[in-house]
Amino acid sequence: MPARMLWHNARVATMSPQAADPWGLIESGAILTQGDTIEWVGAYDDRPRAARDANHVDLNGLLVTPGLIDCHTHLVYGGHRANEAEMRLNGASYEAIARAGGGIRSSVAATRAASEQELLAAAARRARALLREGVTTIEVKSGYGLSLDAEARCLRAARALGSTLPISVRTTYLGAHAVPPEFEGRPDDYITAVCEWMQTLHAQGLVDAVDAFCESIAFTSAQTRRVFETARALGLPVKLHAEQLSDQGGAMLAASFGAMSCDHLEYLGAAGVAAMRAAGTVAVLLPGAYYMLRETQQPPVALLREAGVPMAVATDHNPGTSPGLSLLLSAHMSCVFFRLTPLEALRGITVHAALALGLPDRGVLAPGMRADFVAWDVAALNELTYWFGHNPCRRVVVAGAELQE
Ligand code: NIG
Ligand code: FE
Repeated sequence: MPARMLWHNARVATMSPQAADPWGLIESGAILTQGDTIEWVGAYDDRPRAARDANHVDLNGLLVTPGLIDCHTHLVYGGHRANEAEMRLNGASYEAIARAGGGIRSSVAATRAASEQELLAAAARRARALLREGVTTIEVKSGYGLSLDAEARCLRAARALGSTLPISVRTTYLGAHAVPPEFEGRPDDYITAVCEWMQTLHAQGLVDAVDAFCESIAFTSAQTRRVFETARALGLPVKLHAEQLSDQGGAMLAASFGAMSCDHLEYLGAAGVAAMRAAGTVAVLLPGAYYMLRETQQPPVALLREAGVPMAVATDHNPGTSPGLSLLLSAHMSCVFFRLTPLEALRGITVHAALALGLPDRGVLAPGMRADFVAWDVAALNELTYWFGHNPCRRVVVAGAELQE
């Protein structure tokens, strides 16, 4: 039988939506784990008999939350785009750079030139930075390969991240990210290829979900629909980069396919909100891209809140629009730019992020859940989204084992 551990002397924020306290905070709390699973969470004084023989670990009064979940990243790519970022500072727009063959396409060239080992090594450095800040689950998209071989390489590198680091990885196939040069002017043919490759990549066990970029500089909703139909036929869940730069009706389309999430959403309208609500689709807010693109249109947070659409927050780490590696900073920015409350932001990187990935075994601390949790050196939970450029993460437990520095 795997070892039992009692993690005690902690202030435990379970983030359980059922708890009386909105954060699920338990003062003088403790967590009993067996192997990689939580067996019990509660006040130390109420610990079950089974806790007696467990190995005791003192968490020194620190605040504990579920392991953080970054539910939208493009962590695997070659090179970087600092030059384009500088061009944008000098006035060039993201769209203009993309239309001139830069943008995603320049990362595609660098990604294709990189070996799988190089892609993995670069992504692992990035994942380690996230992990140091308490991120224990990440979603990683392909989308910088845009050929069968290169997409497979990126997805394999993403999977390998999860076996080389103590972090869970969910992979998302984003073949429909941009039209690669060999399909220039033939986006419909490219979508045909994207759909064929999906079947191969899925057969290789490389795909947990399917995403597309529905936008005037990327794919139309009709093209996105074809991608979603193929995903549905394969039984794969979908998500969408929707309404980032304009309202394309992407969220409505995605909701009609029961999408797990729609992401970005700066230009989302009331009809899209209603469709997402009806479908149970999570709204993933990406303030890093909003900030980097100096966007001024904010996602309709008040409407989403009023409709009861769960909101998640992610880094959207990518070389073009969000080269950031701090999920806490993203959460902080979701409060400052989008006016999420600190509670909403913390839900956005725990329980709602788990929902956006369709992972029912994490995001809250409760019996039966994965034993992923983080101990923070803060006195109050709203400090987690208050400080920026500062990492209060002190201890990280992944699948019941504490990470050593
Ligand atoms: O999520 N919106 C599309 N994809 C990425 C950016 C890709 C890039 O510029 O490299 C995003 O912002
Ligand atoms: Fe993205």
